[in-house]
Amino acid sequence: MDAIEAIRKRRSVRNFTDEAIPKPDLKTIVDAGRLAATGSNRQPWDFIVVTDRTMISEFTVSGAWISKAGAVIVVVMDPSSRWWVEDGAAAIENVLLASTALGYGSCWVEGDAIPHEEYYKSLLGIPSEKRVMALLPIGVAVETPAPLKKPLENVLHWEKY
Ligand SMILES: Cc1cc2nc3c(=O)[nH]c(=O)nc-3n(C[C@H](O)[C@H](O)[C@H](O)COP(=O)(O)O)c2cc1C
Repeated sequence: MDAIEAIRKRRSVRNFTDEAIPKPDLKTIVDAGRLAATGSNRQPWDFIVVTDRTMISEFTVSGAWISKAGAVIVVVMDPSSRWWVEDGAAAIENVLLASTALGYGSCWVEGDAIPHEEYYKSLLGIPSEKRVMALLPIGVAVETPAPLKKPLENVLHWEKY
Protein backbone atom coordinates (compact mmCIF):
# COMPACT_ATOMS: atom_id res chain seq x y z
CA MET A 1 0.00 0.00 0.00
CA ASP A 2 1.45 3.40 -0.86
CA ALA A 3 1.40 6.40 1.48
CA ILE A 4 -1.57 8.17 -0.16
CA GLU A 5 -3.64 4.99 -0.04
CA ALA A 6 -2.81 4.47 3.66
CA ILE A 7 -3.75 8.09 4.43
CA ARG A 8 -7.06 7.68 2.61
CA LYS A 9 -7.80 4.32 4.26
CA ARG A 10 -6.91 5.22 7.85
CA ARG A 11 -9.93 5.53 10.11
CA SER A 12 -10.31 5.29 13.88
CA VAL A 13 -11.18 1.64 14.53
CA ARG A 14 -12.68 0.69 17.89
CA ASN A 15 -13.84 -2.85 17.17
CA PHE A 16 -11.21 -5.61 17.09
CA THR A 17 -11.26 -9.41 16.88
CA ASP A 18 -8.75 -9.79 19.81
CA GLU A 19 -6.22 -11.61 17.55
CA ALA A 20 -2.57 -11.14 18.49
CA ILE A 21 -0.33 -9.04 16.25
CA PRO A 22 3.00 -10.60 15.18
CA LYS A 23 6.01 -8.94 16.83
CA PRO A 24 7.72 -8.09 13.49
CA ASP A 25 4.62 -6.08 12.50
CA LEU A 26 4.67 -4.26 15.85
CA LYS A 27 8.35 -3.45 15.33
CA THR A 28 7.62 -2.08 11.85
CA ILE A 29 4.79 0.05 13.26
CA VAL A 30 6.90 1.51 16.09
CA ASP A 31 9.77 2.09 13.67
CA ALA A 32 7.43 4.31 11.63
CA GLY A 33 6.89 6.40 14.78
CA ARG A 34 10.63 6.58 15.41
CA LEU A 35 11.20 7.96 11.91
CA ALA A 36 8.76 10.89 12.22
CA ALA A 37 9.73 14.52 11.74
CA THR A 38 10.93 16.07 15.02
CA GLY A 39 11.97 19.61 16.00
CA SER A 40 15.78 19.99 15.99
CA ASN A 41 15.93 16.20 15.56
CA ARG A 42 15.43 15.84 19.35
CA GLN A 43 13.37 12.61 19.00
CA PRO A 44 11.90 13.07 22.50
CA TRP A 45 9.86 9.87 22.46
CA ASP A 46 9.61 6.33 23.78
CA PHE A 47 7.09 3.72 22.72
CA ILE A 48 5.83 1.05 25.13
CA VAL A 49 4.26 -1.93 23.36
CA VAL A 50 1.81 -3.84 25.54
CA THR A 51 0.67 -7.24 24.25
CA ASP A 52 -0.12 -9.14 27.46
CA ARG A 53 -3.91 -9.64 27.58
CA THR A 54 -4.16 -9.00 31.32
CA MET A 55 -2.23 -5.76 30.92
CA ILE A 56 -4.33 -4.77 27.90
CA SER A 57 -7.44 -5.15 30.05
CA GLU A 58 -6.01 -2.44 32.37
CA PHE A 59 -6.46 0.05 29.51
CA THR A 60 -10.26 -0.29 29.56
CA VAL A 61 -10.44 2.73 31.91
CA SER A 62 -10.00 4.64 28.62
CA GLY A 63 -12.68 2.62 26.77
CA ALA A 64 -14.12 -0.88 27.21
CA TRP A 65 -13.49 -1.63 23.52
CA ILE A 66 -9.71 -1.52 24.07
CA SER A 67 -9.83 -5.00 25.70
CA LYS A 68 -10.06 -6.56 22.21
CA ALA A 69 -6.97 -4.82 20.84
CA GLY A 70 -4.07 -7.08 19.84
CA ALA A 71 -1.62 -4.54 21.26
CA VAL A 72 -1.59 -1.09 22.79
CA ILE A 73 1.28 1.26 21.97
CA VAL A 74 1.79 3.94 24.60
CA VAL A 75 3.56 7.05 23.33
CA VAL A 76 5.72 8.61 26.06
CA MET A 77 7.25 12.04 25.50
CA ASP A 78 9.99 14.10 27.12
CA PRO A 79 8.41 17.53 27.76
CA SER A 80 11.81 19.19 28.20
CA SER A 81 11.96 19.25 24.42
CA ARG A 82 10.35 22.46 23.08
CA TRP A 83 8.36 20.70 20.36
CA TRP A 84 7.27 17.62 22.28
CA VAL A 85 3.57 18.00 21.44
CA GLU A 86 4.19 18.48 17.71
CA ASP A 87 6.75 15.67 17.67
CA GLY A 88 4.41 13.35 19.52
CA ALA A 89 1.56 14.09 17.11
CA ALA A 90 3.83 13.41 14.11
CA ALA A 91 5.01 10.11 15.59
CA ILE A 92 1.46 9.07 16.48
CA GLU A 93 0.16 9.73 12.97
CA ASN A 94 3.05 7.71 11.53
CA VAL A 95 2.13 4.80 13.83
CA LEU A 96 -1.53 5.00 12.76
CA LEU A 97 -0.60 5.10 9.07
CA ALA A 98 1.86 2.21 9.35
CA SER A 99 -0.80 0.16 11.15
CA THR A 100 -3.23 0.88 8.30
CA ALA A 101 -0.61 0.02 5.68
CA LEU A 102 -0.06 -3.39 7.35
CA GLY A 103 -3.82 -4.04 7.33
CA TYR A 104 -4.62 -3.30 11.00
CA GLY A 105 -7.10 -0.96 12.60
CA SER A 106 -5.99 1.57 15.20
CA CYS A 107 -7.20 4.60 17.11
CA TRP A 108 -5.64 7.65 18.76
CA VAL A 109 -6.87 7.62 22.37
CA GLU A 110 -6.72 10.32 25.04
CA GLY A 111 -4.48 13.04 23.52
CA ASP A 112 -1.85 15.05 25.41
CA ALA A 113 -4.34 16.23 28.05
CA ILE A 114 -4.66 12.56 28.93
CA PRO A 115 -7.06 12.24 31.88
CA HIS A 116 -5.59 8.95 33.17
CA GLU A 117 -1.94 9.94 32.87
CA GLU A 118 -0.96 9.21 36.50
CA TYR A 119 -2.72 5.85 36.37
CA TYR A 120 -0.75 4.81 33.24
CA LYS A 121 2.53 6.14 34.62
CA SER A 122 2.15 3.96 37.67
CA LEU A 123 0.87 0.94 35.68
CA LEU A 124 3.79 1.04 33.24
CA GLY A 125 6.61 2.39 35.41
CA ILE A 126 6.95 5.61 33.41
CA PRO A 127 9.27 8.21 35.05
CA SER A 128 7.34 11.10 36.63
CA GLU A 129 9.08 13.76 34.50
CA LYS A 130 7.84 12.16 31.25
CA ARG A 131 4.42 12.73 29.67
CA VAL A 132 2.02 10.11 28.39
CA MET A 133 0.90 11.55 25.08
CA ALA A 134 -1.51 8.92 23.77
CA LEU A 135 -2.56 5.28 23.80
CA LEU A 136 -2.76 3.59 20.42
CA PRO A 137 -4.78 0.36 20.52
CA ILE A 138 -4.09 -1.70 17.38
CA GLY A 139 -5.82 -4.82 16.19
CA VAL A 140 -7.51 -6.79 13.47
CA ALA A 141 -10.56 -4.70 12.59
CA VAL A 142 -14.07 -6.14 12.76
CA GLU A 143 -15.40 -3.05 11.03
CA THR A 144 -13.97 0.22 9.77
CA PRO A 145 -16.25 3.21 10.27
CA ALA A 146 -16.35 6.08 7.79
CA PRO A 147 -16.78 9.35 9.72
CA LEU A 148 -17.84 12.41 7.79
CA LYS A 149 -14.93 14.55 6.66
CA LYS A 150 -15.16 18.17 5.53
CA PRO A 151 -15.06 18.35 1.73
CA LEU A 152 -11.68 19.34 0.28
CA GLU A 153 -13.10 22.48 -1.31
CA ASN A 154 -14.20 23.71 2.16
CA VAL A 155 -10.69 23.63 3.58
CA LEU A 156 -8.37 24.13 0.59
CA HIS A 157 -7.38 27.74 -0.11
CA TRP A 158 -5.20 28.61 -3.09
CA GLU A 159 -2.76 31.47 -2.62
CA LYS A 160 -4.77 33.30 0.13
CA TYR A 161 -7.18 32.34 2.95
C1 LIG B 1 -5.89 14.26 20.00
C2 LIG B 1 -6.90 13.17 19.74
C3 LIG B 1 -7.50 12.52 20.81
C4 LIG B 1 -8.40 11.49 20.58
N1 LIG B 1 -8.93 10.84 21.66
C5 LIG B 1 -9.79 9.82 21.45
C6 LIG B 1 -10.28 9.08 22.57
O1 LIG B 1 -9.96 9.34 23.73
N2 LIG B 1 -11.14 8.04 22.33
C7 LIG B 1 -11.49 7.70 21.04
O2 LIG B 1 -12.26 6.74 20.89
N3 LIG B 1 -11.04 8.38 19.96
C8 LIG B 1 -10.19 9.42 20.13
N4 LIG B 1 -9.67 10.09 19.06
C9 LIG B 1 -10.05 9.71 17.67
C10 LIG B 1 -11.01 10.72 17.05
O3 LIG B 1 -12.27 10.59 17.64
C11 LIG B 1 -11.07 10.49 15.52
O4 LIG B 1 -9.79 10.71 14.98
C12 LIG B 1 -12.08 11.41 14.85
O5 LIG B 1 -13.39 11.08 15.21
C13 LIG B 1 -11.98 11.35 13.31
O6 LIG B 1 -12.16 10.02 12.85
P1 LIG B 1 -11.04 9.27 11.99
O7 LIG B 1 -9.82 9.11 12.87
O8 LIG B 1 -11.65 7.95 11.64
O9 LIG B 1 -10.73 10.10 10.80
C14 LIG B 1 -8.74 11.12 19.25
C15 LIG B 1 -8.10 11.75 18.17
C16 LIG B 1 -7.17 12.74 18.41
C17 LIG B 1 -6.44 13.38 17.23
